[in-house]
Amino acid sequence: MMEDNSVGSPKAIGVFDSGVGGLTVLKALINRFPNESFIYLGDTAHLPYGAKSPETITRLVDQNIKFLAKNGVKAAVVACNSASTVITEDTMHGIPIYNVIDPGAQAAVNASHSGKIGILGTRATVKSASYPTRIKNLNPEAKVVSQACPLFVPFAEEGLQDDPLTNLIVYRYLTPLLQETVDTIVLGCTHYPILKASIAKVTGPNIALVDSGEAIADQIQADFDSGKLEKSTDSPTLKLSVTDETDFFMQLAKMILGTDNAQEILRVNPTDPDCSIW
Ligand code: DGL
Repeated sequence: MMEDNSVGSPKAIGVFDSGVGGLTVLKALINRFPNESFIYLGDTAHLPYGAKSPETITRLVDQNIKFLAKNGVKAAVVACNSASTVITEDTMHGIPIYNVIDPGAQAAVNASHSGKIGILGTRATVKSASYPTRIKNLNPEAKVVSQACPLFVPFAEEGLQDDPLTNLIVYRYLTPLLQETVDTIVLGCTHYPILKASIAKVTGPNIALVDSGEAIADQIQADFDSGKLEKSTDSPTLKLSVTDETDFFMQLAKMILGTDNAQEILRVNPTDPDCSIW
């Protein structure tokens, strides 16, 4: 057991990503659990995670979880697929950890009738083979085709959610999956739901698009119901933080979360031992 060195209250759920992508997960969690408090960390100083090695991602993940634990969270949601590929433990720094890949793989298997499933992800996520491995554990007959989409994250970070340029690169990346006649596509990066309108234009209505926000909300709901995770009894609060420039992040946060939720954003340095969000 780690010592309780939390400096804040109330007990929030921590959520982190390299940038704005994890806000799509945060949004799903706020909608589902309006009485819970959340702390969000966007590690924008180190974006993109998807182009980094597992060793570097592991170091950044450890830093982020340590920061959230120090700020008193009761659980940490790794709202980043690239980061989730290096998670091997259920608890880190004394708090339970939720990765997005396990619920995403389960949701894909549930959604697919043909067993032909496409994965869109960062280079790090595709290289890790985490989705094909977990999907095949759930359904050994499944055929999984993966496509790395390194241009999607910068387009999402620029807020180009439905733009002719976005449509072109979506078409380029999705063509190999459509040729394999997949019936389900996993948006295997939390930035990709920001581009969902463009993606859906190319896939049409007959391909199921799986994004991890709802899937992880289901998992957390189950843990609240079983008592594994304690429900909050305090008034809900939301703290948004980033490790680099705040201005443009704020604009995107308002677009993704709505202005009522995104009102203030802090710049933090997780490696500073005295860094507190409260
Ligand atoms: N949002 C992150 C993910 O889900 C990746 C973005 C990045 O490359 O930093 O993989």
